[in-house]
Amino acid sequence: MKKNNPKKQFAVIGDPISHSLSPAMHNAAYLHLNIDAKYSAIHVKTEALENFIDTFRADDRFIGFNITVPHKETIIPFLDGISDEAKHIGAVNTVVKVNGKVLGYNTDGRGYILSLSEELGLDVAGKDVVILGAGGSARSIAVSILNANAASLIIMNRTQDKALKLKAELSDSRVSVKAFTELDSLRNAALIINTTSVGMSATNNACPLPDMSWVHSGQVLSDIIYAPLETYFLKAAKRNGAKTINGLGMLAGQGAIAFALFTQAPISYTFMLNQLKESL
Ligand code: ATR
Repeated sequence: MKKNNPKKQFAVIGDPISHSLSPAMHNAAYLHLNIDAKYSAIHVKTEALENFIDTFRADDRFIGFNITVPHKETIIPFLDGISDEAKHIGAVNTVVKVNGKVLGYNTDGRGYILSLSEELGLDVAGKDVVILGAGGSARSIAVSILNANAASLIIMNRTQDKALKLKAELSDSRVSVKAFTELDSLRNAALIINTTSVGMSATNNACPLPDMSWVHSGQVLSDIIYAPLETYFLKAAKRNGAKTINGLGMLAGQGAIAFALFTQAPISYTFMLNQLKESL
């Protein structure tokens, strides 16, 4: 392999970007499958986004890239087209050149669903699901949960107006909005997903819900946070006998699906997850 001058170039762009675990995950997969490619982290500020796309279009070796905060929505006008799924979510996390066209996809929600099935054997079809939060992550997960035939989806958010806006955008009769204090809704759910930032390193030991006494052993509690690996939300869930899954799974899942879009080569979820664990 020509390691110093690889044939294919990939990247993740964002602002900030230095903390990204994606290069370690994708580069390990190229090595594993003997693909002559390199994946880099590129710091792109909002005002430089259009220039970046022009550079991407002009470079034949540059095949695709992932997008993280804050460009997942603002990148859309610069693309030649986006998938129906990305349109529905309103955000793009993966861009690939296909027959000279620059196309956008979203693998976040499907990556999340993949992590549930791979790690817990959980199929959300027919299940009652609660999502805590109403931001971009909540939206991509909500679309995939509904596509995966969940029986119902409750959105709970600190700012109820945002939850109502998300409900309106999803435009699906299975969706309702409740307050964090409606414990019966939480108790009756099979899967409760924290998509808020509460519990991240800086606010460790904080919990998105005022009360965790409703948790029982028949439930799965999921947090999309992976630093720390076990948030207070997940600790409390485990104490009450529930199954848990942290945010590393969604990162591995979206990465595995993006990898297949980039290279047309399949890579396993477990391979990506193990790379992430090693690079932490
Ligand atoms: P992301 O793209 O990761 O979803 P986001 O769009 O900024 O990020 O959304 C962050 C989510 O975390 C929101 O649902 C936010 O609630 P608000 O809509 O009320 O702002 C939620 N969040 C952030 N800090 C919170 C806190 N201290 N308590 C409760 N929810 C919080």
